[in-house]
Amino acid sequence: MATAQQLKALLQSYSEADGEMFVSVALQIAAHEARTGKGKFASEIKRLVDEIKGKQRTSKVGGSVPIVRPSGELATLLSATYPRTKLTEMILAPEQREALELVIREYRQQSKLREHGLSARRKLLLVGPPGVGKTMTSWALAGELKLPHFTVQLHSLITKYMGETAAKLFAIFEAMRHTRGVYLFDEFDAIGSMRAGSNDVGEIRRVLNSFLQFLEQDDSESLIVAATNLEGMLDDALFRRFDDVIRYRLPTQSELHDLIANRLSAFQLGSDTIEQLVSQAVNLSHAEICRACDEAAKMAVLEDRRMIAPADLQRSIQLRQDRRRTAHEGL
Ligand SMILES: Nc1ncnc2c1ncn2[C@@H]1O[C@H](COP(=O)(O)OP(=O)(O)OP(=O)(O)O)[C@@H](O)[C@H]1O
Ligand SMILES: [Mg+2]
Repeated sequence: MATAQQLKALLQSYSEADGEMFVSVALQIAAHEARTGKGKFASEIKRLVDEIKGKQRTSKVGGSVPIVRPSGELATLLSATYPRTKLTEMILAPEQREALELVIREYRQQSKLREHGLSARRKLLLVGPPGVGKTMTSWALAGELKLPHFTVQLHSLITKYMGETAAKLFAIFEAMRHTRGVYLFDEFDAIGSMRAGSNDVGEIRRVLNSFLQFLEQDDSESLIVAATNLEGMLDDALFRRFDDVIRYRLPTQSELHDLIANRLSAFQLGSDTIEQLVSQAVNLSHAEICRACDEAAKMAVLEDRRMIAPADLQRSIQLRQDRRRTAHEGL
């Protein structure tokens, strides 16, 4: 019989969707059984493990996909991670949460949808100001769906030569077909910055057009996420090609409250204090608030306190308001 430790490791690897660990523990159990003279049982386990491995290779929908590292040219175009971020870690407006939960639900049941000639939404455009959780959303989708996350390196993708850029784009869309994952075109508006590297404005249009064509033809099982700050740059043709456009904005007062409470949940901070801080924090982004909270938390840790000093947090928030004002005045 498998030892208690082995059973625990097996359950743990299942709960963490760690396919490699699952297989390795199962093989340890097989070896253990073989040593105790139960050769038949051991080979039965090995056969089951081989079956599991085969299924992992074909990346069945709903299961976890083993981490893959892009190689060759793809290595410069895609950076791979395996995020554990969850949607519940994010403070979102109700309509955002609803839209994202629907993406997850449809993706998890895509084969059921396909049986009825329907397809799950997979192509998302996230639009909103800096620091409001667009990149984090992409990680959370990968985390929830247990998919690897690939960030497209736009600076490697975009070259002076249209033909080369289109070939690289093609390679990325091919990768999406072969390796199921979440593919993030972050700072998507950078495609617009092609202008800097080219004298021909028509070039930008052509790169965007090939992106749109690839996007339209894509029938992979990957999720494609494009994120941008600049709504103005994006035209109707682009919006139409995505299954959903999710808009982000700065946090409301109640979202600010939840953000501070969440970020500092491991420390002591009174609800009244949070209320006061919220009014001071209006117009700051989620990212700025998180950083201000982290600064106050570090002070508490360094001084061996469990209590957040409201003055520390006030100072950090004020600093960010001042920076924002200076940046605004500088425009
Ligand atoms: N909605 C949110 N809920 C919780 N934390 C958030 C949220 N948005 C941002 N954060 C925090 O701020 C960090 C930076 O956010 P993120 O990179 O996702 O912003 P972004 O919208 O992609 O900004 P940019 O347009 O500058 O790329 C996150 O890693 C997270 O710590
Ligand atoms: Mg981002």
